[in-house]
Amino acid sequence: MKNHVPVLAHAFIEGLLSDPDGYYIDATFGRGGHTRMLLNRLSNEGHVLALDRDPQAIEAADILTREDPRFQIVHSDFAGLENAIYQAGSPSICGIGFDLGVSSPQIDQAERGFSFQVDGPLDMRMDPSAGQPLSERLKRLSEKELTHIIRSFGDERFAGRIARTICAAVQKKVLSTTRELENICFHAMPPKARHGSTHPATRTFQALRIWVNDEYGQIDTAIKAAMHCLAPHGRLAVISFHSGEDRRIRDLIEAQVHPCTCPREFPMCICGKTPSMRWIQKKPIRANDDELSSNPRSRSAMLRIAERLPESAI
Ligand SMILES: C[S@@+](CC[C@H](N)C(=O)[O-])C[C@H]1O[C@@H](n2cnc3c(N)ncnc32)[C@H](O)[C@@H]1O
Repeated sequence: MKNHVPVLAHAFIEGLLSDPDGYYIDATFGRGGHTRMLLNRLSNEGHVLALDRDPQAIEAADILTREDPRFQIVHSDFAGLENAIYQAGSPSICGIGFDLGVSSPQIDQAERGFSFQVDGPLDMRMDPSAGQPLSERLKRLSEKELTHIIRSFGDERFAGRIARTICAAVQKKVLSTTRELENICFHAMPPKARHGSTHPATRTFQALRIWVNDEYGQIDTAIKAAMHCLAPHGRLAVISFHSGEDRRIRDLIEAQVHPCTCPREFPMCICGKTPSMRWIQKKPIRANDDELSSNPRSRSAMLRIAERLPESAI
């Protein structure tokens, strides 16, 4: 199994770090690449609280928990961020980082069902101890609902054709593995569209994973909570991996950077909504050529950074 190589690591840590004595949150521990780099930059007074919804990530954090008293981890999805902060005694938070999506170990393990490169059961849960696997959830979905999921979460042009074929296969009970799903996506595409630069199953797998894990619901709750919980001048750094995710992050932050809802033609603001965040890096930072050649996962990574303004309320 491949190790997880953290993406955009230098820019992520630089963007997050404002005080070496501060208290930070890594909302997506994964295998702890970013957390370790952050701890290396903190003093003995600094602290990192990490979250991950995957029990395997929590296990992987065991050594670090024993080695470093400045580190602690909680098994929680990041929609539970406010609760995790409250349980930690409501410290003043200097920075909160998100590195969204799945880790390399999650993708590489066939039994997790994330990848069409290896054959496994249709699961796709980041937390296999909660909710139901994809195979069960597909049984309760209409063709119309599935089309909507594949189109809106995967930007897939052929969502209708793919959904129709998946629903027929579910009914006939001939769809239970990732390779079978890959095969369905391939054959549901018109022949001319089967051999483009991305594999025909890529967007459907992405869409189903987003749906199974309620990824957009998680992002909406967690990013709002993060902006609310940051101390004045605290930093929010978010790495996303596809345009739908990145647009969501941008819009959530932008709503706090420019919250005024008055019509443009008004000479002055009467809604009274004042900014609570400012952009540090509005245009997403992307991987440079060195990183692109050494870590293919960095190809689609986009990093945005913002800062909490003092004396403001969200
Ligand atoms: C890209 S990896 C993070 C890698 C990490 N930065 C590192 O350097 O090892 C994403 C991690 O976030 C976790 N994750 C994704 N969505 C989550 C959520 N809603 N709540 C908590 N953890 C989540 C996944 O389980 C995975 O371990």
